[in-house]
Amino acid sequence: MDNLNNISDKKIKIKTEGVNLFYGDFQALSNINMDIKECAITAIIGPSGCGKSSLLRLFNRMNDPIPGVKVEGKILLDGISIYDEDMDVVQLKKRVGMVFQKPNPFPMSVYDNIAFGPKHHGIKQKSRLDEIVEKNLKQVALWDEVKDKLNQSALDLAPGQQQRLCIARALAVEPEVILMDESCSALDPESTMEVEKLMVDLAKKYTIIIVTHSMEQAARVSDMTAFMYMNENRAGILVEYGTTEQIFARPKDKRTEDYITGRFG
Ligand SMILES: Nc1ncnc2c1ncn2[C@@H]1O[C@H](COP(=O)(O)OP(=O)(O)OP(=O)(O)O)[C@@H](O)[C@H]1O
Ligand SMILES: [Mg+2]
Repeated sequence: MDNLNNISDKKIKIKTEGVNLFYGDFQALSNINMDIKECAITAIIGPSGCGKSSLLRLFNRMNDPIPGVKVEGKILLDGISIYDEDMDVVQLKKRVGMVFQKPNPFPMSVYDNIAFGPKHHGIKQKSRLDEIVEKNLKQVALWDEVKDKLNQSALDLAPGQQQRLCIARALAVEPEVILMDESCSALDPESTMEVEKLMVDLAKKYTIIIVTHSMEQAARVSDMTAFMYMNENRAGILVEYGTTEQIFARPKDKRTEDYITGRFG
């Protein structure tokens, strides 16, 4: 929350304009308008099924493969519309990375997990890959713990270490935005604290958007908070969006207040 004082001065990294999302006939998101600030942490909160993951996945076109999916409105990344036909989706996914709920290291060594993306994007030189692996494991404060186990299977690491490895893997392709969908919900409190600390640290360089069911987590780490709910047709709507301080201390909408005080959800 140390960005709080200057959050309003920050540049807009992602802008959504009148976004609707349909899965076949079902409308999952309705008229989402949201400016996401660069180098800050934005938390998306709201009850189960209100479309948080659906919205997050729109930011790097991860919903594209779902049959019958349709997106209306605009999503701009640095002012460029990412759903335009000429958008390079491979490049988009490099710029906007994702960390999932359950740690999902690839079934390969610690080293290869980090080197995988850079190799895929054309980096072949061993010394360069060594540097990338070391730099990114250091970025997630995992280097000291795993530097002697680089060739061991990533699946043998503890869950908290696996999740930091997955964050390092996302960082290794040098993204600008990192999406995290309930990335601490499978972790114990201690590992959760480590990942939260990491998020705050990474937000100096990266734009971070998290989905969380933990009000405490949203309040602890985020600069901006978006509260989503459902309309009468069960489509997800953005009820209220503001600084985390405002949303938690002075919510304007009754539904936001009820949710953050635990009256439903
Ligand atoms: N691939 C899909 N096909 C059809 N409907 C889907 C699909 N994915 C999600 N939905 C529906 O869209 C709505 C929003 O789902 P979404 O997973 O985005 O909610 P959420 O807020 O992330 O919920 P949770 O907190 O439980 O993770 C739900 O009604 C869900 O059933
Ligand atoms: Mg979800």
